[in-house]
Amino acid sequence: MDKLIIVGPAKLSGSVRVSSSKNASLPILVASLLSTRPVTLKNLPRLRDIETMLKLLRNLGAVVTQDERGTTIDSANLSTFSATYELVKTMRASFLVLGPLLSRFGEGKVSLPGGCAIGVRAIDIHLDGLAKMGAKIELNAGHVQAKIDSDDRRLHGGEIHLSFPSVGATENLMMAATLAKGTTIIKNAAREPEVEDLGNFINFLGGKVKGAGESEVIIEGVDYLDCASSGQREYEVIPDRIEAATYIIAAAMTGSTLEVVNVISRHLDTVIAVLRDMGVNLELDEENNLVRVLPSNELKGMHVDTAPYPGFPTDVQAQLMALAMVAKTPSVITEHIFENRFMHVPELNRLGTNIFLRGNSAFISGNYKLKGAPIMCTDLRASAALVLAALVAEGRSDISRIYHLDRGYEGLDSKLKSLGVNIERAKNGL
Ligand code: EPZ
Repeated sequence: MDKLIIVGPAKLSGSVRVSSSKNASLPILVASLLSTRPVTLKNLPRLRDIETMLKLLRNLGAVVTQDERGTTIDSANLSTFSATYELVKTMRASFLVLGPLLSRFGEGKVSLPGGCAIGVRAIDIHLDGLAKMGAKIELNAGHVQAKIDSDDRRLHGGEIHLSFPSVGATENLMMAATLAKGTTIIKNAAREPEVEDLGNFINFLGGKVKGAGESEVIIEGVDYLDCASSGQREYEVIPDRIEAATYIIAAAMTGSTLEVVNVISRHLDTVIAVLRDMGVNLELDEENNLVRVLPSNELKGMHVDTAPYPGFPTDVQAQLMALAMVAKTPSVITEHIFENRFMHVPELNRLGTNIFLRGNSAFISGNYKLKGAPIMCTDLRASAALVLAALVAEGRSDISRIYHLDRGYEGLDSKLKSLGVNIERAKNGL
């Protein structure tokens, strides 16, 4: 397994380009299963999770080709309605295929995603919604077996009120509703930009989605998708707001001047507001889709609660904690979305902090003097926090199990090296 070796303290300089969003690309790749015409996605991020999803689409019978135009998925001849445990267990987003499989075949069999490091990650909201659309759901032997008994084997529209604005459930149900009979209204829907992008993509395919990215989404079912609505044949996914936030925080922690390019800053309104409240010096250039970070005076601590969009994103919680470590005054960060998303804390404490937890809150006294040490990744965003902390720690840090990082950050080590960081990827004996 690889590890990263970082020698701090680091200074970043220059400009870094943010890749396309992992969390928009994954549901959009799944939605390509709805189309009987090939569709090409430009600039998909080169990530392990994207490779896993492409493998899953191929397993279902889609033909996937990659060339200079991008990644083309042809789902005209899907051959199975079953997504196996081997693939679903490695990536929860695989569960999103249930909606499209039901729409295409009238049935779908998908392994239960199982938990993951950051929490149980249930699927009850997904299943309740599909049942309301006419799916008969059975759970057996670790799989969800769903089928539609009606003569036409089609889901039907209806009004679905989500008990929690689940991102995945909103996306699954939007896709299921695309080819359903009649109109579906999803209330208390997730409002994340990645949900909005999925709605735009479904319309690009010829679907009829209104209000994606708002708390009420209306989907008018169509009989088939043939990309007829869009002149062009290629779709480009939005930039990754979480990756952008990670580089902005890296510059703030190291007192650097950095241009972060390919950022839709309105997707980061709350993050930018919190960073500015802490004293981070940010300039937004919305016309050129970039954020400029400038050195700032002393940073001060803050109290932040994670929340569904547009609240503070849980996917930036660990990175914010790294920043709080170098602020001059204490911070409290409370995690409301996942029940076990503080696994970065014991690893960060190995660098010389004494962050402590009470329930779902972390208390960071700040003003720490960090020393490099061997540390271990536990999940994707926790890993990013370890890299950020290693940038400011004095001396060498060896960060192991970086396969977690490779799931969601395209070329993190090469991007940081190009910004002037003393960082190497090495083989790890473990
Ligand atoms: C998406 O996960 C993202 N993943 C996550 O990013 C992100 O943290 C999360 O949304 C919240 O913003 C992708 O988009 C691929 P949820 P998802 O359904 O869809 C509970 C990353 O680091 N819940 O909104 O799984 C669930 O247990 C990843 O890139 C139910 O109880 O998130 C969790 O506690 C990590 N029942 C909470 O809701 C359900 O049926 C949020 O889950 C569904 C969810």
